[in-house]
Amino acid sequence: MTGPSHTSDPDDLYERIQAAATVVRSRIGARAPQVALILGSGLGGFAERLEDAVAIDYPELPGFPQSTVHGHAGRLVVGTRKGATCVAMKGRVHLYEGHDARAVSFPARVLVALGARVVIVTNAAGGLRPEWAPGTLMLIRDHIDMLRDHPLRGANDDRLGPRFPDMTTAYTPALRALVKDVAHAQGIHLEEGVYVAMPGPTYETPAEVRMLQIIGADATGMSTVPEVVVARHMGARVIGISCITNKAAGITGEALSHEEVTETAARVRSTFEGLLDGILAALVERKELG
Ligand code: HPA
Repeated sequence: MTGPSHTSDPDDLYERIQAAATVVRSRIGARAPQVALILGSGLGGFAERLEDAVAIDYPELPGFPQSTVHGHAGRLVVGTRKGATCVAMKGRVHLYEGHDARAVSFPARVLVALGARVVIVTNAAGGLRPEWAPGTLMLIRDHIDMLRDHPLRGANDDRLGPRFPDMTTAYTPALRALVKDVAHAQGIHLEEGVYVAMPGPTYETPAEVRMLQIIGADATGMSTVPEVVVARHMGARVIGISCITNKAAGITGEALSHEEVTETAARVRSTFEGLLDGILAALVERKELG
């Protein structure tokens, strides 16, 4: 091997990220997003709160994988909220849709390339703790990756980040403290725990749920981890929030459905969006956005 490692990436990931970022910049002008918001199933409504917004549908963005799931409208919205310039992903793709982890995490890379130094990742998740009622919000303290593909598999491009990123503080401790302060001030009950990413698209079996409880997870879902990994790879700081939309399979004995997931997410919408507003205001106030 000769030369820097980035020249060995046949995928040209770096160039593809720049190409997508260039298209976004051509639409939003000089505003550089400070915060990226990845909005999970049923949680995309926050994008409508952004002011002076510019929306770009994913099909207009080169390299963006296209969603196939009902209820996952795919669009990027850039706008201002609580003094922060934000770029929100309304809808994301999942591994179970047939994309690999590199493709699934590509949009997150573009958001960081656009300048976002804080990435707020949200999702709908099943609760592994029987005492957590559907509608509970959980701050993600850490994660367990049970997906069968990794977004950093393949040649590493040193311009994006290191070959072996540290994950000791994947979910930035200072920002977790900030989120807890905001929740407390708003009177929102916020749990904290470990998110496990499962491949899906089946929900877990009761036996898998017992396994996930034993290995130390508190909430289970089918997303988030690839995006957090690439955000950390690129040096952004991460906040993760799960909306516990249902008790995981076998806890109640009732069958799970996607409708239950989206209905619970809709029910907590105003609380969830109020929390995001508070987080943005606190990030600005505490000068966390540089
Ligand atoms: N399991 C996996 N993913 C989910 C769940 C669940 O119970 N609820 C929402 N997303």
